[in-house]
Amino acid sequence: MVADSAELRVPKSATNAATLTVVAKERAAEGIVSFTLAHPDGARLPDWTPGSHIDVVLPNRTTRQYSLCGDRWDAHTYRIAVLREPWGRGGSAYMHDELKVGDRVGVGGPRNNFPLVPSQKYLFIAGGIGVTPLLPMIRQAEFLSTDWQLLYGGRTRESMAFCEELATAYGERVHIVPQDERGLLDLAAWLGTPRPATKVYCCGPAPLLTAVEAACAAWPSYAMRAERFTAAAQTAPVQRASFKVELRRTGRTVIVTPDVSVLELVRRAGVEVLSSCEQGTCGTCLTPVLEGRPDHRDSVLADHERAANDCMLVCVSRSCGDRLVLDL
Ligand code: FES
Repeated sequence: MVADSAELRVPKSATNAATLTVVAKERAAEGIVSFTLAHPDGARLPDWTPGSHIDVVLPNRTTRQYSLCGDRWDAHTYRIAVLREPWGRGGSAYMHDELKVGDRVGVGGPRNNFPLVPSQKYLFIAGGIGVTPLLPMIRQAEFLSTDWQLLYGGRTRESMAFCEELATAYGERVHIVPQDERGLLDLAAWLGTPRPATKVYCCGPAPLLTAVEAACAAWPSYAMRAERFTAAAQTAPVQRASFKVELRRTGRTVIVTPDVSVLELVRRAGVEVLSSCEQGTCGTCLTPVLEGRPDHRDSVLADHERAANDCMLVCVSRSCGDRLVLDL
């Protein structure tokens, strides 16, 4: 995941960030550079699971989320890959042009909003840089001797990172589809008929995710998980009126007005909630809900997680009714 649309600011979670050193910087494909990060003292890094991302806080005080795409069993380094985004706000350009081996960056996390749940089979679908969170998932599936296949599309072969690594390690399980050679991914052929005991994991640009969701229409909703780079388009809120949010542990109540987020008002009440993207894409501000029904407006939670009504992303989500009780 690369959330290059995130605000250019240090996240609240950065106060807990570790400082890591860039120990390697390599070209991974046309317009994509990979970075390897390690603790300056060589200390062990926090463990992570496939699908996890880290917040990278750059020396120019910008922050971005990047999927970990290295070996989860390597306790001493993290690997990320960064696509240069010509229309981004400067974070990817900074990393491509300025950040060099020996520099230090703040790193928050890892956190996982895109966990690999057990399944007998996996179908992984990647678009461009969206291959990054899927690399450790594939290693995990392989480690567990689980049946899997990867459908990997991109503009051109030269622009697709880790093609050689994937083809060399996994051979025919990997289907590489450069658009200029083979056209668009044939999602109807891959997804038109639900496959038993199979889960679909998809990461890539919004049009690909929309197309995969449409092609999965006949699949059970729990069978597909996607990770978005940017916030999904939202429908109008369930209601536009103000609502009350009770913070059960701190004993405070705030009134959330239509033009201010729950996160902002909770903070104004003096209660700290970690955040990063503040666009509903990173999962940092996930907060337990004790009573009430959230109007979920994020791009992280799966349908069954929303239906459970027991948590919400307070940077963007609101309330269906006139009252919510949060475990804050
Ligand atoms: Fe990223 Fe709320 S801060 S989802």
